[in-house]
Amino acid sequence: LHSLPLLARGKVRDNYAVGDDRILMVASDRISAFDVVMGEPIPGKGALLTQMALWWFAQLKGIVPNHLTGDAPESVVAPDEVAQVAGRSMLVKRLKPIPVEAVVRGYLAGSGWKEYQESQSVCGVPLPAGLNNASRLPAPIYTPAAKAAVGEHDENITFERTQQMIGADLAARIRDVSLRLYERAAAIALDKGIIIADTKFEFGLDDAGELVLMDEVLTPDSSRYWPADSYREGINPPSFDKQFLRDWLEQAQVDGQPWNKTAPAPRLPG
Ligand code: C5P
Repeated sequence: LHSLPLLARGKVRDNYAVGDDRILMVASDRISAFDVVMGEPIPGKGALLTQMALWWFAQLKGIVPNHLTGDAPESVVAPDEVAQVAGRSMLVKRLKPIPVEAVVRGYLAGSGWKEYQESQSVCGVPLPAGLNNASRLPAPIYTPAAKAAVGEHDENITFERTQQMIGADLAARIRDVSLRLYERAAAIALDKGIIIADTKFEFGLDDAGELVLMDEVLTPDSSRYWPADSYREGINPPSFDKQFLRDWLEQAQVDGQPWNKTAPAPRLPG
């Protein structure tokens, strides 16, 4: 976009400043996992995920305020840029981001399953013995992660660590709100035949110090979506999200062809 100053080019999203109190978030068609951005886009992905996030924000707005301003993104760009942003962007409030990734898990997958096998706990939350890959947890758990520096992996951390980072009250509020958001969303999705195995929320503070849900929510980039009808404990369900890409990148590493950030962007599998 030439009409707005670029604030940050993320792995999949580009953020533009709109005055000093709003941001235009434009979701590209790029796909990334483990900090690797693939060389080919998935046509339509940015618009699809944006529409999902907008739908979820509307479902969840009774639980916590979100960063949407309610204004149309098309209203802040030049006329010749409307097609570039239409359907794939959100006009949001500029917030002070909180450096905690608020992950909630209803099922054991990904780093949750890995940690469980090592310590029978995830982020310090003890779990019963005998759980399997993809097991449903007795109750959803809050397993925060810390945003890592560029090029590093995000790191799972304990709730106590988040208390030290951002204060006990805010840490507890984020945990409680995240669990409520997940529970509401998981129930809505299950009604449609989808298991949301886990997801990640991000929050910021507004000028009044109010907690606000930000970023995108409950898209297949930030969540694991499993079909409920083929779910079996102990096996990796087909995942309607970017798990295929994580698996492929991990396999490349096992095969001795590790991806690295300086090599040309890899092509998508399959
Ligand atoms: O990889 P892991 O099992 O820790 O991910 C748990 C959940 O949090 C997944 O749904 C994943 O998509 C999401 N997540 C994310 N961004 C991160 C870390 C995790 O969206 N940086």
